[in-house]
Amino acid sequence: MEKRKIILDCDPGHDDAIAMLMAARHPAIELLGITVVAGNQTLKKNIVNALNVCQLLGIEAPVYAGMKRPIMREQIVAADVHGESGLDGPVFGPLHLKAQPEHAVRFIIDTLMQSDGDITLVPVGPLSNIAVAMRMEPAILPKIREIVLMGGAVGAGNSTPSAEFNLYADPEAARVVFSSGVPIVMMGLDLTNQTVCTPDIIDRMQSVGNKAGRLFADVMNFTLKTQYEVNGLAAGPIHDATCIGYLVDPGCIELHDMHVVIDTNEGPCYGRTVCDEVGVMKGRVRANAKVGMAIDTARFFDLVEECIRMYD
Ligand code: BDR
Ligand code: CA
Repeated sequence: MEKRKIILDCDPGHDDAIAMLMAARHPAIELLGITVVAGNQTLKKNIVNALNVCQLLGIEAPVYAGMKRPIMREQIVAADVHGESGLDGPVFGPLHLKAQPEHAVRFIIDTLMQSDGDITLVPVGPLSNIAVAMRMEPAILPKIREIVLMGGAVGAGNSTPSAEFNLYADPEAARVVFSSGVPIVMMGLDLTNQTVCTPDIIDRMQSVGNKAGRLFADVMNFTLKTQYEVNGLAAGPIHDATCIGYLVDPGCIELHDMHVVIDTNEGPCYGRTVCDEVGVMKGRVRANAKVGMAIDTARFFDLVEECIRMYD
């Protein structure tokens, strides 16, 4: 099986942790590195969370700390959903694993420049690291095979009525990425909210009986409550893991070509992904993204279980 080389750029984060769990073990993926960005919590907290997950699961991919702040706006975090630590719920032992000394942006640039153009970037947090890498070394653009990201929404947002959290946390960075010309696959809320992880699914994963199943349950049990309180959802969606689902099993996701622009104007639509869903701009602009609209959830959760079973 040809392995898809990826760099996972994340802000763990409950659903980020599940994306890490899946990406690190599935044989269809070669996880070159985990780059961390400020988002769900501060960079300092997100790094600790990433390392804790890696240590617990024995994930060997190197971890790099990236941007501490968004490009222009003031920092926001999602403590209401992810807690004070950014990954409340699981209890981890003493942390021995360390992040790499190199900056995440440097790692992204150097890895892409040394590649044959076969690396996919998988950002599942604010797009600050990716945008800064693109601005620092524009020669990386033709080297990126594809960007498969979680963020945005065709319909309603979850940070504001217009904007989804990852986009709202750094809209200017998102604008750089969406106007880069690099092929983009966007998993927005329209799709990711279909992956709500209800108690029966949590029980199913936990009953696998290994450390990955237990981590899954500890992580998703926490967001059962917060996602209901904050977003009115039946339980916590595993937003970020849909990107890994797409990479391993693209057939389980329905994509629509769209032109997507990021609103960076101050006001109620700040951070919105303005998606040309019905093609009103056809003939004037070319689609710059494939937007996920539907997911075969049964197939997706089978894949999640398959990944969990790959651990001891
Ligand atoms: C996104 O925001 C974060 O809270 C999650 O980790 C996910 O990446 C969902 O809007
Ligand atoms: Ca995330």
